[in-house]
Amino acid sequence: METIEYRPIGIIHTPFNCPEGTPIQPPGGLDHCGVVEVFSEFHEGLRDVEGFSHLILLYHCHLAGAARLTVMPFLDDAAHGLFATRAPARPNAIGLSVVRLLRVEEGRLYIREVDIVDGTPLLDIKPYVPKFDSRSPERTGWLEKQAHRTEQARDDGRFSDR
Ligand SMILES: C[S@@+](CC[C@H](N)C(=O)[O-])C[C@H]1O[C@@H](n2cnc3c(N)ncnc32)[C@H](O)[C@@H]1O
Repeated sequence: METIEYRPIGIIHTPFNCPEGTPIQPPGGLDHCGVVEVFSEFHEGLRDVEGFSHLILLYHCHLAGAARLTVMPFLDDAAHGLFATRAPARPNAIGLSVVRLLRVEEGRLYIREVDIVDGTPLLDIKPYVPKFDSRSPERTGWLEKQAHRTEQARDDGRFSDR
């Protein structure tokens, strides 16, 4: 299989016009709201979504540059393998964000805690279910040594991988 084709099911609208200045992860965007516009042909699939406080958004990082297999993450001064980071520029530029759902109105999902650029094509929506998705990991790799920078980035409203 050489290529897989996906088509967007909607568009994510946020206050962020470009990758620079966009929060690095949803915790950095706690106060920032956005709207997920789901295309009308998919509205039926939104039934019962409002019962969930958090959603997993999967999207195409359409402004990401070419992928590099070694990257210097924002939260470190050392290089790491791409797949040990959350950098948006990847061989398949798929982004994943857990966002808070505020309300649903006519195919529009009002969300908070966004680290996504305005106009980003939406690939999928899944409910965030702690029983399925939450873990207590004993290791978080290179990020463990960077705990203070993570805290600082959160306090500054930032939080990315370059
Ligand atoms: C570190 S990535 C993490 C994204 C997601 N939470 C993840 O883990 O896959 C977040 C950064 O991606 C960049 N970004 C967000 N939306 C993008 C888009 N549509 N195209 C390119 N870069 C984007 C912004 O610079 C943002 O700070």
